[in-house]
Parts: sequence; C-alpha cells; structure tokens
Amino acid sequence: MIYKLAKNRKTVRKFKSDVPNIDDILYTIKVAKEAPSGMNSQPWHFLIIDDPQIKRKIKIIAEKAEKTFFEKAKGKLKEFLITNNISWEKEFLNSAPYLLLVFSDIRFPFSKESTWISIGYLLLALEEKNLSTVTYTPPNPLEISKLVNAPKYYKLEVILPIGYSNESKNKQKRKNIDEIVSFNNF
Ligand SMILES: Cc1cc2nc3c(=O)[nH]c(=O)nc-3n(C[C@H](O)[C@H](O)[C@H](O)COP(=O)(O)O)c2cc1C
Repeated sequence: MIYKLAKNRKTVRKFKSDVPNIDDILYTIKVAKEAPSGMNSQPWHFLIIDDPQIKRKIKIIAEKAEKTFFEKAKGKLKEFLITNNISWEKEFLNSAPYLLLVFSDIRFPFSKESTWISIGYLLLALEEKNLSTVTYTPPNPLEISKLVNAPKYYKLEVILPIGYSNESKNKQKRKNIDEIVSFNNF
C-alpha cells in the first residue's frame, strides 16, 4: 500500500557496504519515469554512478562548498543542522554503493516541478525495495554537472546516495492532518 511506504520511508545518511542489485535501481527509475510532467516532456535524466573514483571527486567538490555553507549557516537552519547531527562532511557520497544524480532539462516549462514529482515516485520505489537514500541537494550543483559532462541545459536537482541503511533512528514527526487541510476557505 502506498500509505505504508510513505509512512515508513525516512532519510538515511549512513550506509552498509552491501551493493544492491542494479536491477532494483533500474526498477526505481522505471517507476520514476511514469510520473506526470508538463506537456509530457519527461524532462529528466538519471545518471547512475558506481565508480569509486568519480564518487570521490563528487565528494571533494561538494564538501568544499558545504564547508563555506556551514560557516555561514545561522538561526533555524543552524539549529536544524546541529540537532540532526549534519556536518559539512558528506561521507554518504563515498559509503553509498550508488549515487543517482537526477537532472532536469531546463528547456521545458515546469521541468523542475516535473522532475521532483518523479523523484517523489522514486523515493517510494526505493522504500518498496528496502533501499534507503537522502535527497542531497549540494550547494554547487553546476560544478558537479561539469565533472560528469552533463549538457548545459541539464540542471542537477539532487544526488541520491543509494544503499542499505546502516542507522536506526525514528522518523521525524509530521504535522497532523487537521493542521494542513481546510475545506472551501483557507
Ligand atoms: C528538497 C529537499 C532537499 C533536501 N536537502 C538535503 C540536503 O542537502 N542534505 C540532507 O542531509 N538532507 C536533505 N534533505 C532531507 C530532509 O532534511 C529530510 O527529508 C527531512 O528532514 C525529513 O526527514 P525524513 O526524510 O527522515 O522524514 C532534503 C529534503 C528535501 C525534500
């Protein structure tokens, strides 16, 4: 049931070294590509990376920008980062057996919205396969796009490190339905 997958899914930032079957990764992309998109343009591209050397390069590029981002963080953002034990170091870029880079083709209207709907589908499909991820949005997507030779009209939306969870924590609380729903009038 979709509700059960959505309810159980949670972000994971620590991964086991066990390598998931590539067919499971491809299955999640098969699900993602069924998402709706503006004009049915299907403005997404999924780049699977399992080469340790490329993963290492991505980690170095991302961490350089993360360090600056963390130094500047303040207020609610800083609080969130501290309580969730999130640092500028992104070990998951190395430890997750796969990095799935999702790009949107900016030549199409609503490319960002459409691509993120497909990412949502993909997250539920990962849950179905007992795989975990974090929707990692690096501060410097352009530098990473260049590293992997993405055409300039493809924008890197997210990096999904994918593998089996190596952490146990409770899911973050969600609001109650009566806090977020109204009828006829906001
Ligand atoms: C659009 C988006 C961007 C996010 N970016 C990051 C990120 O850059 N780094 C990170 O560690 N988590 C990131 N997250 C994960 C959220 O922090 C996480 O989904 C949220 O705290 C709820 O926790 P849960 O997924 O375990 O329910 C992002 C999530 C979304 C939806």
